[in-house]
Amino acid sequence: MNLDINGRTALVTGGSKGLGYASAEALVREGAKVAIAARTEETLTKAAKIIDAVPIVANLSDRTGVLACIDKTRETIGNPDILVINTGGPAPATFAQTTPDGWREATDQLFHFTIEMLNAFLEPMKEKGWGRIVVITSFAAQEPVANLLYSNALRAGIHGLVNSVATEVAGHGVTINAVMPGFIMTDRMTGLGLDLDNVAQSIPAKRMGQPSELGDLVAFLCSERATYITGQAIACDGGLLQGI
Ligand SMILES: NC(=O)c1ccc[n+]([C@@H]2O[C@H](COP(=O)([O-])OP(=O)(O)OC[C@H]3O[C@@H](n4cnc5c(N)ncnc54)[C@H](OP(=O)(O)O)[C@@H]3O)[C@@H](O)[C@H]2O)c1
Repeated sequence: MNLDINGRTALVTGGSKGLGYASAEALVREGAKVAIAARTEETLTKAAKIIDAVPIVANLSDRTGVLACIDKTRETIGNPDILVINTGGPAPATFAQTTPDGWREATDQLFHFTIEMLNAFLEPMKEKGWGRIVVITSFAAQEPVANLLYSNALRAGIHGLVNSVATEVAGHGVTINAVMPGFIMTDRMTGLGLDLDNVAQSIPAKRMGQPSELGDLVAFLCSERATYITGQAIACDGGLLQGI
């Protein structure tokens, strides 16, 4: 299938590793000119070199970093046709372990960051009459995970945002969808201290996912082939989420 995004420009945040990197790799393979943003310069530069992307060093957990990333994106690739909003996951916590500062940090990291990205790039997409936005969230938005309180709460809110924005921009050739990873083998997943063999057995597919499986879904949603799909939260989880 020709995804027909050759020559489109794309920004993938959190793009030096894991799911962001896999999404960027899939977009580059389809001919898009891609910028990737992350904090650690060495990892980012290496990743950018491998897939031939533009590296943008930025800490997306604070507003100054987000605004710097937006400026740098405009300088290097212009306002992107495609935006993949992704960053690191918030710290694990039960509700009893959450704190007001923790909620503020997690909200900045996931929610306010998403809003800043939309503020910057949605209007130019509408003016152009073409745009694709994918927000990488989590299956936790629909099936809360014990010990991931910040993620459970904030991702569900982001889905509300995605649905609402989709309605407003659907008539302008712009789509926006959320993609919900299940358990996919990345540094984030190995760092959570889970028993991954047990986890794999709990998934109907009986295995963890590979980042490229999610990257391919993201590239499809960002393509010319996905014009009529918007406002959705689509799981890539080997059958984990059921009954929704
Ligand atoms: N893997 C899964 O199965 C899974 C499941 C559910 C949800 N998710 C969610 O999906 C997202 C991506 O997960 P992943 O597994 O790909 O994680 P990962 O392997 O840890 O990669 C995270 C990427 O984001 C960058 N990043 C992290 N914090 C950042 C910040 N403050 N500013 C800029 N860049 C930042 C990292 O680079 P630097 O550290 O160098 O900045 C890296 O490029 C996370 O929000 C995670 O919670 C993942």
